[in-house]
Amino acid sequence: MSRFVYADNAATTPMSKTVYNAMQPFLTENYGNPSSLYRFGNKSRQAMQNARKQVATALNAADPSEIIFTGGGSQADNLAITGFMKGLSAKGRTHIITSRIEHHAVLYTCQALEKEGFTVTYLNVDNLGRVDLEQLKSVISDNTALVTIMAANNEIGTIQPIREIAEIAHAHGAVFHTDAVQAVGHMHIDVQEMGIDMLSLSAHKFRGPKGIGALYCRKGIALKPLVYGGGQEKGLCSGTENVAGMVGLGQAITDACGANLDEKMSYVKSLTDKLVKGIMENVPYTHFTGDPENRLPGTASFVFEAIEGEGLILRLDFAGICGSTGSACSTGSLDPSHVLMSIGLPHEIAHGSLRLTLGEQNTEEDVDYLIEKVTEVVASLREMSPVWEDGKPNLTAASELHSH
Ligand SMILES: Cc1ncc(COP(=O)(O)O)c(C=O)c1O
Repeated sequence: MSRFVYADNAATTPMSKTVYNAMQPFLTENYGNPSSLYRFGNKSRQAMQNARKQVATALNAADPSEIIFTGGGSQADNLAITGFMKGLSAKGRTHIITSRIEHHAVLYTCQALEKEGFTVTYLNVDNLGRVDLEQLKSVISDNTALVTIMAANNEIGTIQPIREIAEIAHAHGAVFHTDAVQAVGHMHIDVQEMGIDMLSLSAHKFRGPKGIGALYCRKGIALKPLVYGGGQEKGLCSGTENVAGMVGLGQAITDACGANLDEKMSYVKSLTDKLVKGIMENVPYTHFTGDPENRLPGTASFVFEAIEGEGLILRLDFAGICGSTGSACSTGSLDPSHVLMSIGLPHEIAHGSLRLTLGEQNTEEDVDYLIEKVTEVVASLREMSPVWEDGKPNLTAASELHSH
């Protein structure tokens, strides 16, 4: 019987027992609507307020009222970008700056705004996935309302120079939003110290429940609502509150960003370093992707020459391993991910990508198994590959294959 190794923590994480225990009463006995006037509803209202405080504390926000609960990271991104550009605080400015490697929750929101007449600049990134600060300085103007750059990338783990970006934005009177969905709970975040005006997060990326997230929005910034209705969440994201989800988010962020964050980061990083070393040493014609220094502690990302990412994922699945690929045939396109293309990988190499993302629940044994199986599966797929000849990749054949 093969092992089961979950190495896709950037996709989602297992909910922790403490989070489950905190939520449970709000799924069963404490089901009151927080907006009701009787005392039974008050229990839910208090739990919600407590959760808002927990999120504010974890981010070092000045006030819990700066936390707006949403239905996850995508909604927080949509509220931040569309809500800001169409709200009063944009002051008539119509230009947005973002990067080429954002999550689609940001990229597609920006593209939708472009269709409505807003202008968007997509910053380039270098081969490690870092945004080009010189380009940012050269394109920002007094028409720039918003700079939105992710804190850390979901495919290659590169962490962006958030403080510097915020400073440049502020020097031009623009507001700075960061999609920190991959970052919260995995690196230190302090919205005040880092100059962050708005920040998106999502509970299921740090052992909380799915379908609940939050937008931190600095006091004084006026947004246009994302969802109209009963006026919940300051009228920005209406709908009867997901109290259990909020309680779960509050508990998860407290656990994830608490006193043992450093210890957890260094444990996860030591596993990731071992995994990267093992794969780079054992699998020839492999390239490590992302920034080797400034990266999320749990992200190990690679491209293997003469490999198709999807085949690799399926074979690893048979071996009990959950991983992911930026090779995006599954999304209906034959192009590899926009992130891998943006860091300058040739088409035929970007197709062989593998992202393994570790969490605190992974072990040394998991890592040994991952190294063993990835080595074995890559070798066996290469044996069958039309672009693998005499123990090495035939890149000419690969580019011919992909040009069809
Ligand atoms: C960087 C980033 N932003 C946004 C999202 C969307 O978050 P959610 O799935 O909670 O809507 C994700 C999810 O993978 C992400 O990785």
